[in-house]
Amino acid sequence: MQTGGLLGSGRSADVFAIDDHWVLRRYRDGGDVTAEAAVMAYLEEHGYPVPRLRDPAGAGHSTAPRTDLVMQRLHGPSMLQALLQGMITAEDAGAGLADLLHHLHSVRAQISADPVNRILHLDLHPDNVMLTSGRPVVIDWRNTEEGPPGLDWGMSAMILAQVAVGNTALAALARAVLASLLTHLGPAITLGNTDSGCLAEAKKRRAADPSMNESETHLLDEAMKLILELTPARP
Ligand SMILES: Nc1ncnc2c1ncn2[C@@H]1O[C@H](COP(=O)(O)OP(=O)(O)O)[C@@H](O)[C@H]1O
Ligand SMILES: [Mg+2]
Repeated sequence: MQTGGLLGSGRSADVFAIDDHWVLRRYRDGGDVTAEAAVMAYLEEHGYPVPRLRDPAGAGHSTAPRTDLVMQRLHGPSMLQALLQGMITAEDAGAGLADLLHHLHSVRAQISADPVNRILHLDLHPDNVMLTSGRPVVIDWRNTEEGPPGLDWGMSAMILAQVAVGNTALAALARAVLASLLTHLGPAITLGNTDSGCLAEAKKRRAADPSMNESETHLLDEAMKLILELTPARP
């Protein structure tokens, strides 16, 4: 497919402009996008803010692995860029992420019959949210699964907390976003403790993530401690 310039490059995918309306997202390791395309199409039908797919059903891709996803081109900064440029505050970012998580988990699961299970993103952090005309849109659905909402909250919190306890220039900002996110947890979500529950599972998954380097993995215990400290006490 003829594409224009590279628009963005994350840990696993490259995104190329096709024209002003569409982008092509391609995994560098050739992963199959069938499952995530199905989830994105389902969420769009249910009014959740995801980029629209040009070919939701994957016509013409019935047997070969589907490695490319053509989707609506979003114009605007990521939530991370907006934070760094002072366009939004850390409180806004935390509240925005919380809204996106609550909204996602209000949608009925696509496959699971267990009422506890919902569609989870499992990588919802400020660099996977794009602010398009002020409206946040969630990208990067590679890790999506169905499961308990607390696991999604646990993953978002762990991602932010790992940055917060690290020694990069983003640490203080990540801590403030995390603190704001956790104030919006709501009574229905339980994270558990260091040994069991959704946060412990999130930590396990982060530890097993092959795209993380050793210094990032190192920070997991401290990150979990910070999350438990910042989680508002329940009455
Ligand atoms: N629909 C889109 N419109 C415009 N840019 C996009 C779109 N999707 C992704 N991008 C850009 O490409 C980058 C990488 O995409 P992403 O899906 O997050 O891949 P990765 O899994 O590699 O993080 C994003 O940070 C963003 O800059
Ligand atoms: Mg990404």
